[in-house]
Amino acid sequence: MMKLYIINGPNLNFLGIREPQHYGNTTYEGLLDMIRAHAEELGVLVECYQSNHEGDLVDKIQEAYLQKADGIVINPGAYTHTSIALLDAVKSVGIPTVEVHISKVEEREDFRQISYIRTACQKTITGQGVAGYLQAMDFLCESFSKGEKQ
Ligand code: DQA
Repeated sequence: MMKLYIINGPNLNFLGIREPQHYGNTTYEGLLDMIRAHAEELGVLVECYQSNHEGDLVDKIQEAYLQKADGIVINPGAYTHTSIALLDAVKSVGIPTVEVHISKVEEREDFRQISYIRTACQKTITGQGVAGYLQAMDFLCESFSKGEKQ
């Protein structure tokens, strides 16, 4: 069975509380329910993780390798714009990865226009709200099954 790691960075545990004009009203728990229901529909295993700490996120990406995950969906939060460590971690594990942002980052402040992790990702999804996570799961599932058929 395909295994996906869904990793969220700082302040994403405050979904539903933080800036609803950017991030909507769904809580982090609500997001987890949506992800788990979608995983069941797709027939994939999911491991969901959130941390406010950069090194813990690196550890989780490395765990994905050790646990033989087939894909990673990551919203690195503000670490998107600062973290070479997360970029290196995704490059190190070589697992297909999709970068997700709930808000439309390209229409926001200049400092949000840099994404270090992007170059290591197969795809970036922005501005789709929490549905972006489900789209990322679909993308990884499709490319996984294409790979299996080859
Ligand atoms: C975010 C966008 C980032 O710029 C911000 O720091 C976040 C959330 C998003 O999901 O839109 O924490 O990654």
